[in-house]
Amino acid sequence: MGDTYRMFLDMVSGSRYIVAFTGAGVSAESGIPTFRDKGGLWERFRPEELASVEGFMRDPVKVWRWYIWRMRTIYSSEPNYAHLALALLERKGRLRSIITQNIDGLHTKAGSRRVIEIHGSIWRVRCARCAYRSEIKEVPNESELPPTCPECGYMLRPDVVWFGEPLDNMKWSMAVKEATRSDLFMVIGTSGAVYPAAELPYIARNSGSRIIVIDPNPTAFDDIADLRIWSRASEFFRGIWRDLESLPPLDPA
Ligand code: OAD
Repeated sequence: MGDTYRMFLDMVSGSRYIVAFTGAGVSAESGIPTFRDKGGLWERFRPEELASVEGFMRDPVKVWRWYIWRMRTIYSSEPNYAHLALALLERKGRLRSIITQNIDGLHTKAGSRRVIEIHGSIWRVRCARCAYRSEIKEVPNESELPPTCPECGYMLRPDVVWFGEPLDNMKWSMAVKEATRSDLFMVIGTSGAVYPAAELPYIARNSGSRIIVIDPNPTAFDDIADLRIWSRASEFFRGIWRDLESLPPLDPA
């Protein structure tokens, strides 16, 4: 791993606008299951029943129960070295933003401030009919499902992106802008199976950014990686933590 660490540090030190793009793998070592790995969520559950508008309309209580089950796992989980290292790089003025497909909020819990949650957040709800949106701090009461909108009385739903739904326009344009501006784009723990999110590494690369991919398994981005790190994310960042701590802060240009 010695050479890999050195190459990684060289690339980080030589960059002025680092952006991270993360997926479920970054939270795997915090105890949150991924989607497509062996034993992942989509092996055990049917996405069209639990993560689609049609599924929600058919059985909102079932969908809510599944999200509550996931919220409980997430609630009791803590950021790992990968989340913490990205927060550290942001504090040092080196990492400018994180674009995440995760809805768990662990980047924010680790102290990252500029987090673009392109697939929404499990800690937010919105009305399935009107424009009402709100944060939630606690897991909804399981005996009163689905929760209802305080403004119009219709059903509230998790404020996450489901299959077949478009991404939030503003978040997507911010993500594209960040990918375009980056000079180093770190792809961490995502298989690259879901679009349009999976376009971002290509957008970054086409704008001249260098690409680092950190993932223990093959991903859709292996061919465009300038540095390919075949490791679990938190393991890699634990090993390099001291070196990252010693990096001098970068003055904003
Ligand atoms: P996937 O489950 O498709 O991919 C997870 C990736 O994480 C795989 O490439 C794994 O090899 C990798 N991985 C596993 N453990 C890891 C570890 N410890 N460190 C680093 N990498 C590890 O999850 P995503 O790519 O995030 O969308 O999935 C994208 C979207 O598909 C999700 O946001 C969700 C899902 O359907 C929506 O719900 C809209």
